[in-house]
Parts: sequence; C-alpha cells; structure tokens
Amino acid sequence: MKRESKTVHWGDRRRKAPGFVPVTTPIYTATSYSYDSMETLDRVLGREIEGPSYTRFGNPTVDALEELMRELESGAFAAACSSGMAALHLALLGALLDRPRHVLCADAIYGSTANMLMTILGPIGVETTFVNICDVSAVRAAVEEIKPGVIIMETVSNPLLRVGELDKIAEIARGAHAALIVDATFSTPLLIRPLELGADIVVHSATKYLAGHGDVLGGAVVSTQEHAETLGSLARTLGPAMSPFETFLTMRGIKTLAVRMERQCANACKVASWLSSHPRVQRVYFSGDPAHPDAPTIARLFPKNQTGAMVSFEIKDAGREQVFRFMDSLQMIVRGTSLGDVHTLASYPAISSHRELTPKHRERLGIRDSLVRLSIGIEAHEDITADLEQALAAS
Ligand SMILES: Cc1ncc(COP(=O)(O)O)c(C=O)c1O
Repeated sequence: MKRESKTVHWGDRRRKAPGFVPVTTPIYTATSYSYDSMETLDRVLGREIEGPSYTRFGNPTVDALEELMRELESGAFAAACSSGMAALHLALLGALLDRPRHVLCADAIYGSTANMLMTILGPIGVETTFVNICDVSAVRAAVEEIKPGVIIMETVSNPLLRVGELDKIAEIARGAHAALIVDATFSTPLLIRPLELGADIVVHSATKYLAGHGDVLGGAVVSTQEHAETLGSLARTLGPAMSPFETFLTMRGIKTLAVRMERQCANACKVASWLSSHPRVQRVYFSGDPAHPDAPTIARLFPKNQTGAMVSFEIKDAGREQVFRFMDSLQMIVRGTSLGDVHTLASYPAISSHRELTPKHRERLGIRDSLVRLSIGIEAHEDITADLEQALAAS
C-alpha cells in the first residue's frame, strides 16, 4: 500500500477478536461492520444471525447497555436512546401505532412530555386527557369514559413527589387493553420496577441517576416481549440511538448506581428532616416522610428507607425575589435544572420545569413561587444542610 492508503487503513484492527479480554466494554465507534463473506453480511442484515451491521441498527457498545437495562428492569427488550425525550417519543409512538390514538396522561408530568403530547402528537391526531394519577377511581372512570390506547405516568411526580398506585393502574390498563408507559427517571430500577408491577413500557432519562455525573444526555426504553418487535423496528427506522461514547459513560455511571442511590437516599432523609424543623421553612415534600399523602403506596411499592433522593420545600412567605436571593447565596449546592447527579442541585420549578405554565396553572398544581426543588447528592449531609442554613440566613 502507498502511504496515502496506509493513512486510511493501517491502524484499523479489522481482524477477529484477539485472545485477550478487556475488563470493561470497549467503545466501538465504527458505524458499520464488515464480515468475512457477503453471505454472512447478508444473513446479519436479514437478522438471521446476530451481529452488528450499522450502528443505527445496533452497536456492540450500545448492545451492552441495552442488555444491562433489560436485566435491571426485568424486560424483554431495551433501546438506549440519545435523550430521555427521544426515549419517551419512541415509547409513545410504539404504543400508539396499533392502539386508539387517545392518551390518558398523569396531570403531574414532566413539562416536555406534556408539550410533546399537546403540540406535536396533538396536531397529528393524538388526543390527550389529563387525570390525577394518584386517584385510582378517577383513573378508572377516565379509562371507562375515553377508552385510551395508552396511559402514561411517572413513578414519582415532579416537583411535589407524589406516587401513584402503579400496580393498580397497570391492572386497569390491562383490563382496557391500553398500554401503560411509566417514566421511572426519579426512582431508577433499584427502587421500583414498573414492568414487574404490570406496566408495558418503562422509560428513563439516563441523563439523571443512571449516568449520574452531569456529563451525559441519554435515555432508555425497556418493554415486555409484546412491544419488542414494534419498538425495535421503530428504533431502527427513526434512529433515536444513543452514541457509543454516551453509552460508555452511562454504563460506567450505572456501576455505582447502587452505592450512589443508597447514599443519596440517606442524605435526602437527613436533609428533609433538617428542613422540616427549620423556622424559615413552610413545608417539605419528601417521599420518605411518614406524613406523605401517598405514604401507604410508597411503603407498599418502594424498599424501606430508599424512597428517592429528591426533596422539595417552600420558604415561608417567600416570593420569586426572595427565592432568587436564597438560590444566589448557595455556595456548594449547584443552581441548575437537572437532577440525579452526584452533586446536590437546587432548581426553581417556576422558571424551569414549569416555566411554560401560567402562574394560575402552577398554583392549581400546587407549585408556588416559594417552592425550591433539591436533588440531593453524595456529599457529606452536614455540608448540604450548612449551605442551606447560610443561604436561608442570607435571603
Ligand atoms: C421525569 C423526566 N422525564 C424525562 C426527562 C427528559 O430527559 P432528557 O432531558 O434526558 O431528554 C426529564 C428531564 O428532566 C425528566 O425529569
């Protein structure tokens, strides 16, 4: 080969696997995969034999995360996606393809999910009805009335951290031949596994707890066997795939998910109880609180002492200006809009997740201007409460 050709071919390892075994999954950046004969390539492309051919259809690094997610969620199919929204889009399209185009959606749902339903799926013929997902009889009545093809809810709502009776809703969905999609971003497969409770499709924003370090945008869809063919075919055609680099970071993050969750949940318990006794705090929202309005459901569905690591609270008599002063005074706690990372992060729902709603609509949902949401990290809990203390004093 001439030098110009060597620059293209020489370093590439287009040969059979060597005798050694890497201890972690390598990042396969190749977009296409070659085989020793056209006959084999033909059989791979025809999905007669397993193997990667083109990264939108499958990639060895991404396959590894999908296998891990199937296992963690007790699912039959998984697709790693480029964001939580890409995952939600895939799940909704997949479920709606051969079902009535009417979605029954929890009224406390992530803003962009509601937005997708109303402004993207709405104009192309998908109707959406909202319901209080924590009221099982309201869900049953709505299902009987509108006969939805899909029900969508979150395991834990944002930012007031309400928890619906997932198993009972799954039963209602099954009885009505509706597919139940559950966004389990806030709880992770370590706290609750929607497929084991009867859901059809579970969705994650892997950007949050799964990757966990604030440096990945990703998502995942995991489903039962019934939805595998449709979701797989949609994923191959639409191309919501996660990149191999993000996949590597997500898998690296998941290796410490159990220890992070344990620590973050324990820290959240301490911070919530500290906030509850602070004279400047009006009200605390925390899934581990025995006085939580959904405490019996949480006790039934979540492991003891691990109910989540999100804590929201209202600052007494505070308006937006005072909350801004409080947030600006934070020194260690990060001001931002995400959650689930190793660092504690404070967000202000009125200008982030619920920005698009009118003040009246926010008020109706119970999201007041005095409400702050904390995603508790793995720091020493004393440092978290000390930062909150000094910021409350300074605001
Ligand atoms: C519950 C929930 N679902 C989905 C998403 C969307 O995830 P992503 O930003 O990874 O697209 C978010 C983002 O905050 C979320 O909080």
